[in-house]
Amino acid sequence: VTRWPAFIGVFGALVTAQAVASQKAPAVGVQRPAAMPAGDEEAGREAYAEDCRACHSGAIAPTLKGVAGRAIAAVPGYTYSAGLKGKAGKKWTPAELNAFMADPRGYAPGSKMMLKVEDAQKRADIIAFLQSL
Ligand code: HEC
Repeated sequence: VTRWPAFIGVFGALVTAQAVASQKAPAVGVQRPAAMPAGDEEAGREAYAEDCRACHSGAIAPTLKGVAGRAIAAVPGYTYSAGLKGKAGKKWTPAELNAFMADPRGYAPGSKMMLKVEDAQKRADIIAFLQSL
């Protein structure tokens, strides 16, 4: 009999945990996957200047002007890798940009872009900046 209160306590905790777990997750914005932090455009501008501009302002790499929402591998006259061309038909959504930046060659095998942006916050910042271009 003396064990009952403890048992009820544990049972109560389980019921509570179950209730919390079954609560619906808040609606996730279509533009930003749940795993992506909010981006800061100004921080992204600086990160872009440091990490991206050198290649993406010349002939080495396709322009990123208007890249957000643009079709993948679609800049006329640029010769893309087969890996990125294989993604043509899809668009550069924030989720696609995030995946590509995190691991270009994992995303598009044989990609000519090798720079990985490992920091999720930095990727989100850069995406926020790219959306302003
Ligand atoms: C060392 C040069 C270099 C740097 C630095 C670089 N890129 Fe690239 N990037 C490339 C090349 C080359 C391609 C073409 C890739 C291919 O064909 O596989 C590319 C392609 C891309 C594309 C696809 C564009 C399209 O038209 O489909 C995006 C998006 C992109 N880069 C974003 C970035 C961002 C953001 C940064 C900075 C974090 C960055 N790149 C830094 C060389 C670079």
